[in-house]
Amino acid sequence: MNLLQNDKNEGAESAIKEEATIIIRPYTQKDLPSIYEIEKNCFSESERYTRQHLEMLGDFKRYFFLVAQENEGSSIIGYCIGVLKSSREGTVGHIISVAVHPNNRRLGIGLELINELITQLKNAGATSFRLEVKMTNKAAREMYRKLGFNYVHILRNYYGDGKDAIVMKMMGNNG
Ligand SMILES: CC(C)(COP(=O)(O)OP(=O)(O)OC[C@H]1O[C@@H](n2cnc3c(N)ncnc32)[C@H](O)[C@@H]1OP(=O)(O)O)[C@@H](O)C(=O)NCCC(=O)NCCS
Repeated sequence: MNLLQNDKNEGAESAIKEEATIIIRPYTQKDLPSIYEIEKNCFSESERYTRQHLEMLGDFKRYFFLVAQENEGSSIIGYCIGVLKSSREGTVGHIISVAVHPNNRRLGIGLELINELITQLKNAGATSFRLEVKMTNKAAREMYRKLGFNYVHILRNYYGDGKDAIVMKMMGNNG
């Protein structure tokens, strides 16, 4: 899929333009209503972020918050969030969330969002990547496998509702 990708810290002017059909760009405050709509369409009430939580994630500069839209001015069709964390293993890029509107699935948008997020986290110092995904979430597990993530271990009752998570990791030189 062709993309028009903006650098996290720069505006649309600096975009590298290809034959663009999808734009991936940093979140701005005015995206919040659309992001929350996607959240409601993609996650159950107990799993989704509240509007306030999303707003907070968008406000904190340490979060890498990207949105996907079909073209400039069109509605938002997906988003992802990541953050850098220090650990014994060094600087880890933690993938916090990704969601693509149900009408726009299986078009490669999830992959493109996470690929761009990984690039930005890597440029900011991440040497490896980590995430937790619900054991039953086949779509997300398959997407992360396709990106090069491997299963590490299971976190029992991670979501507090008896549902388990799988921890997945990838080294920075894989992607
Ligand atoms: C997971 C999610 C983000 C994937 O987004 P997407 O844009 O549809 O994914 P892509 O089109 O980039 O798919 C990439 C690969 O992931 C895998 N995949 C995606 N959806 C799949 C599904 N329903 N079943 C099996 N594999 C799937 C496939 O390997 C796919 O490649 P292919 O289409 O060439 O076979 C999307 O399904 C979603 O928003 N789900 C609800 C929110 C969620 O669960 N987020 C993850 C939380 S950890």
